[in-house]
Amino acid sequence: MKITSAEFIVSNSDASKCPAEFLPEYAFIGRSNVGKSSLINMLTNHKNLAKTSGKPGKTQLINHFKINNNWFLVDLPGYGYAKVSKKTKSVFQQFITDYFENREQLVCAFVLIDIRHEAQNIDIEFMSYMGESEIPFCIIFTKADKISKTKVDSHIATYKKQMYANNWAEMPHYFVTSSTESIGKEELLSYIDEVNQGIFKNNSGF
Ligand code: GTP
Ligand code: MG
Repeated sequence: MKITSAEFIVSNSDASKCPAEFLPEYAFIGRSNVGKSSLINMLTNHKNLAKTSGKPGKTQLINHFKINNNWFLVDLPGYGYAKVSKKTKSVFQQFITDYFENREQLVCAFVLIDIRHEAQNIDIEFMSYMGESEIPFCIIFTKADKISKTKVDSHIATYKKQMYANNWAEMPHYFVTSSTESIGKEELLSYIDEVNQGIFKNNSGF
């Protein structure tokens, strides 16, 4: 799939105020600084469509980007950023929870994981929450440019073992990406395209 247009639509901290249009959408979630906003820019061929920063905690709102005029990419705040005050943290966590639990247009969430690190409790907990809430998700490993291909493979093998050790019956569908090197772009866009085609063909609730 080629992205021919990518347009910022709205930011907000109230899930009920997200765009009313009933178009399929894909949300990016994961620890602060994992590369959610950078990945949106890479996929859409933009440098600054989604705001990025070297410091964690940059994205603070739910951001909707309309793609090719018929689906949405959604950039979300990260979790696990200790420096945000407790009050701010619970408020933005609540609106993220509201978003995930009430957003009917959400087709798939992408849980981003930094390929350099072993499984972190907060990610495992978040994926368990997605599983329990029956929200479809895939894993996206990010920053693959930072380690060798051999290490990428061994880190994924370790990750799979850690998932099984945490009672996951199978590893979720996953992608390996780098925003700086455009790794994984075609795979990810093809996956989204395939899901969109299925939805549009069956007109399943859309
Ligand atoms: P929050 O909005 O704070 O939750 O962060 P985020 O997950 O949106 O991360 P963001 O895209 O802002 O990127 C964080 C930092 O990681 C920035 O300095 C990016 O340049 C860097 N980064 C993101 N993706 C990659 C990547 O694939 N490779 C490399 N080398 N750096 C990356
Ligand atoms: Mg961000």
